[in-house]
Amino acid sequence: MSKLFETSEINGMKLANRFVRSATWEGMAADDGACTPKLIDLMAELAKGGVGLIITSHAYVSPEGQAGPWQLGVYKDELVSGLTEMTKAVHDHGGKVVIQLAHAGYFANAKLTGQTPIAPSNAEGFAKGPRKEMNADEIQGVVKAYGAAAKRAQTAGFDGVQIHCAHGYLLSQFLSPAFNQRKDEYGGDIRNRTRALIEVLREIRQVVGKDYPVLVKMNCQDFIENGLQPEDSLQAGKMLVENGIDAIELSGGVLIGGKLSPSRLGIKSEEKEAYFQNEARTFTREVNVPLILVGGNRSFQVAERIVNEGVADYISLCRPLIREPDLVNRWKSGDLSKAACVSDNMCFEPARKGDGIYCLTEERERKKNSEGGMGNAE
Ligand SMILES: Cc1cc2nc3c(=O)[nH]c(=O)nc-3n(C[C@H](O)[C@H](O)[C@H](O)COP(=O)(O)O)c2cc1C
Repeated sequence: MSKLFETSEINGMKLANRFVRSATWEGMAADDGACTPKLIDLMAELAKGGVGLIITSHAYVSPEGQAGPWQLGVYKDELVSGLTEMTKAVHDHGGKVVIQLAHAGYFANAKLTGQTPIAPSNAEGFAKGPRKEMNADEIQGVVKAYGAAAKRAQTAGFDGVQIHCAHGYLLSQFLSPAFNQRKDEYGGDIRNRTRALIEVLREIRQVVGKDYPVLVKMNCQDFIENGLQPEDSLQAGKMLVENGIDAIELSGGVLIGGKLSPSRLGIKSEEKEAYFQNEARTFTREVNVPLILVGGNRSFQVAERIVNEGVADYISLCRPLIREPDLVNRWKSGDLSKAACVSDNMCFEPARKGDGIYCLTEERERKKNSEGGMGNAE
């Protein structure tokens, strides 16, 4: 049997295989962030499709941290009942589900929140309007909000939580010299820049207890000028391990102007797949914790090599599961052809209009084929 289909555990969370659905904003939550039947159906479909671990969309831990419309929320107790339905749907189909806890910080959506976004610093050049540099009370407020959100997640039956510290959102901004220009104990060297993240981890751990899986998604580097560098990312990873993180999902890049840099478009060859694998190799060597690798995983053979060579312990997928929620079962059944996803990011389009993510390219292909088919019949 392929190692990809071996069972494993992350701090007691038993997983059926080594595939993970990476956090994906679906644009399917209600205006106040509540879970909807549509979102629950999607989660059930993913669980049925065989992926070992589902990570939800980024869920905002406090109102001012909302990144975009129809984003899942976990910032108030009233949201727990909907989230409980979500976890039940996943568990009923034999899946496991972790919620991604997030705060957009600098990139919070002021139109939706009605507030000036709070950030480590009012760094210039990444957005039009000014940002409010967080004071110590505001940092502690966010730390507490993460803890309270984790408690709600635990109450709702999630199998664990994942701290979002990637792609230029708040905690990733703290790690990044481009966004964090602070002169206090939260800015400066990497130990200081990791302080807010470690405080969040400690707060969550204190609230959920030692036997509850706490994961993090973080950047191996920012890929922008003056951004987080690989050596500093490794240091942050080591600090997370010292403070009891249970797994690290390695990603990279920063979301600027609605686009992630570097580009994740057009992964057409195996060479372009798993585009953070070199960084993952170093991480695995130096940071002693289960590693989940995300970014451009498309073919079974490449994924298998990555796990067999010990580059990563888990293979995480986002866009391929939008097009094929049953991809893992397909591979398990012996059909090993690569994911049908063409990495054109068209899945964002319907979600931006309020229709929720789906693979627009597949829909267009289907329409084209059926038109072609009708033409032949005439
Ligand atoms: C529609 C869409 C929504 C996303 N939402 C999130 C999110 O909520 N949280 C997150 O950490 N990453 C998010 N990402 C990034 C993915 O999790 C993933 O890191 C990236 O797409 C690369 O993986 P892939 O090549 O398998 O798609 C999103 C990506 C897409 C395409």
